[in-house]
This record gives sequence, structure tokens and C-alpha cells, in this order.
Amino acid sequence: MTIVGEPRPAIVVTGASAGIGRAIARVAAREGGPLVLIGRSSDGLDEAAREVAEAGGEPFTLALDLLERDAPGRLESFLIENGLVCEVLVNSAGYGLRGAAVALPLEEQLGIVDLNIRALSELTLRFLPGMAARRRGGVINFSSIAGFVPGPYMTLYYASKAFVGSFSQALYQEFRRAGVTVTCVAPGPVRTDFLEASKAAHAALFRLLPTAEAEMVAERAWRGFRARRRLVVPGFSAKLAVVAARLLPASLLLPLIARLQRSGNDPCPCGSGKKFKNCCGARRWSLSPGIFRTKRAGGRR
Ligand SMILES: NC(=O)c1ccc[n+]([C@@H]2O[C@H](COP(=O)([O-])OP(=O)(O)OC[C@H]3O[C@@H](n4cnc5c(N)ncnc54)[C@H](OP(=O)(O)O)[C@@H]3O)[C@@H](O)[C@H]2O)c1
Repeated sequence: MTIVGEPRPAIVVTGASAGIGRAIARVAAREGGPLVLIGRSSDGLDEAAREVAEAGGEPFTLALDLLERDAPGRLESFLIENGLVCEVLVNSAGYGLRGAAVALPLEEQLGIVDLNIRALSELTLRFLPGMAARRRGGVINFSSIAGFVPGPYMTLYYASKAFVGSFSQALYQEFRRAGVTVTCVAPGPVRTDFLEASKAAHAALFRLLPTAEAEMVAERAWRGFRARRRLVVPGFSAKLAVVAARLLPASLLLPLIARLQRSGNDPCPCGSGKKFKNCCGARRWSLSPGIFRTKRAGGRR
């Protein structure tokens, strides 16, 4: 029986204005009840709200820049004002940047830390105690197969996703007996704006790996969460990539990922201002006893 004035349990989705977050909002909406949709783009949120309503949910939208330090507090106030309490939190907002770590703008790179790590951690830690007190609900955090291996030329993004994996799985263990689930979802490449916005789409690695649909990832993530799973890796190719990342030695994986993620036209990390292919990446002919072989200008890579 619902007591008048008692806050209603809501599903809160960050990154709900686009991509995987919007897809998971549509899936979660089938269960009915309030969904709080968060993103910066009002147009994206309006469209997401319409989709959620069509799927059977009751949408609330909140335009919020999660890079702003007071954003989590403003979300809490919004929930209180609307008579809601966060029962399920989906942390899907996130971004990445491909390129040499020293060549990418520092502030934009630190934004990855602020959004993918800081905002995700703060929201998770703000809402988990209430969930545990009610012994219901939980958190879905989006990591990536990138979280299983260091990622040269997308360094901060991979590192941020490793954090999400470690953070979420540790919390899963802490809270599993409290009736609360923390599920880490680690997709491979997914067909969303992310691939172009991060410039990952320009890297050979992302052209080699099969691209999943956001709907499939959202369905598997939600089903895995409801089945109280610690880790969901949606799709066969993503699972294969995780197995490879766990089995292959770093001495093999790191040069391979570097090769597949950098472009010869990227600025050289040495700071010369030249393109990588014309600087440390340039091939030089050298003569060693009996054989011709090519050698990188900067030695072994
Ligand atoms: N797509 C992939 O290939 C892939 C693969 C593995 C993991 N993932 C992870 O899955 C999650 C979702 O990715 P996606 O593919 O759905 O990306 P996307 O299509 O680019 O969507 C990103 C979402 O995050 C929101 N967002 C970005 N910056 C924000 C900020 N400062 N404040 C509030 N919201 C912000 C965006 O909304 P606004 O622009 O409206 O703010 C948008 O709704 C990310 O964590 C990503 O790292 C993606």
C-alpha cells in the first residue's frame, strides 16, 4: 500500500539524452514507474521522455552538466521536490578522447576523470546508503572492454573504465548481502555518437571490432542487473576481447593496441610538433649482418 506523501522509487539514468543511456531508459520504462532522465541536451531529453512515456514509464527530465561540482546535490534536491527516491541508478554518461595523451587538450582529458570517475563515484556513493537501508535496488555502471587493458592513444579513457570496473565490482561484493546490486557493464564498440565524438571511429581497432547496437547492450545490461550479476559483457565479440585481454601478455597487447589506435597523422608524443609518421614513427632502413630490416627512428616501439 502506498502511503500518501511517501517518496516513490525512481530509476535515475545519466546520459539518458543519447546512446546507450537512452536505450536503457526505454528498456527500464517497460517496468512502469518514474524515470529521471539526465543529460545536458534538452532536445535529447525531450525525445527520451517521449520514448519512455510510449514504453510505459513516467518520465522526469533534468538538464544537468555532471561536470559541475554541485550537480549531484541538485539531482538530490530535484528528487525530493518531486517526491521521488533513487531506487536504481544507471551511470551511463561518459566520454573519451583518442590521441596521444600529451597532444590532447589537458582540460578535456581531465573532464574524463571528472565525469567518468568523479561524478559516477559521487552519485553511486550518495545513493547506495539509501538503497541499502531500504534493501532494494542498485546501480548499473558503464565500464567498457577498454577497462580490461591499458589503452595507449586513448590513455585516460581506458584508465577511467578500469576504475569503473574495479570500483563497481568491489561495491558489488560489499553490498550483495544488503539486498542491493552493483552491476558493471563492459560493452565493446557500440553504434552511438560516442565513436565519432571520441574520434575512436578513426582508429583501426574500432574498425576491426564488430559494433553492437545500443538496444542489445541495454537489454543485456538491464537483464543482467535484474539477475543480480556483478559483470555483464554484452555480445560474443566483446567477451572474446575480454578473454584475449586477460590471457595475452602486456608485452604483446600494449604494442598491438598502440598500433591499432594511433594514426600516423597524429602529433608525435615527443613534442616535436611533427606528425608521428614523420618523427618517432618514421621507418629507416638499416643494414645488419646479412639482412635488410626496417627500424623505427626512435628505437623499438
Ligand atoms: N559507444 C561505445 O562504443 C561504448 C563502448 C563501451 C562503453 N561505452 C560507455 O557507455 C556509456 C554511454 O556511452 P554512449 O555510447 O551512449 O555515449 P553517447 O552516445 O556519446 O552518449 C553520452 C551521454 O552522456 C551524456 N553526457 C556527456 N557529458 C555529460 C555531462 N558533462 N553531463 C551530463 N551528461 C553528459 C550525453 O548527454 P548530453 O550530451 O546531452 O550531455 C549523452 O547522453 C559511456 O560511459 C561510454 O564510455 C560506450
